[in-house]
Amino acid sequence: MRDDIERVLIDEAVIEKRLDAMAAEIERDFPQGPLVVIILLKGALVFAADLLRRVPRVLEIECLNVASYHGGLESSGVVDFLDRHFPEVKGHQVLLLDDILDTGRTLHAVSRRLMDEGALAVKTAVLLAKDKVRAAEVEADYVGFEIGDDFVVGYGLDYQGKYRNLPYVGILKAGSL
Ligand code: XMP
Repeated sequence: MRDDIERVLIDEAVIEKRLDAMAAEIERDFPQGPLVVIILLKGALVFAADLLRRVPRVLEIECLNVASYHGGLESSGVVDFLDRHFPEVKGHQVLLLDDILDTGRTLHAVSRRLMDEGALAVKTAVLLAKDKVRAAEVEADYVGFEIGDDFVVGYGLDYQGKYRNLPYVGILKAGSL
């Protein structure tokens, strides 16, 4: 798998150190009381598992399946909610986790839906944010790393379903795309 990677952008030790700081920020910012964390599948799985184990408070974890990318390189522009049931968030503060903020459409659509479902407040955290103009007006409250506008894989992010289990974030070789 390593042979398919052109270069490592963010290595494991750097990610771990940053997650310590993000978790501390989150723990400090959220008032005590019920907190529901929503993990966007599948990309945010690895990030969420590593981040949430660093947050020492009672919380509920829910997952949402949304599709905006369809396994390729380009965002489709439409965000589909794929689950039959939507998590119960009425009256709760919510922390929404995604792997990467790209066009912003996913975070925008999911945050709006959470507010429509009666969430008290929604904050968002992403491992990565691409430094670019967003199609939807949204920024994340917590960002692990700002990166350039490259397609990246690893640490939960995939190309056609592969590379999610790489322990770092990297850029694929042109021949692997
Ligand atoms: P938007 O454009 O809605 O995109 O902010 C968010 C979703 O698009 C996927 N995405 C990527 N996946 N490498 C990936 O593996 C990338 O460089 C990349 N950029 C966007 C991802 O699923 C994210 O949740």
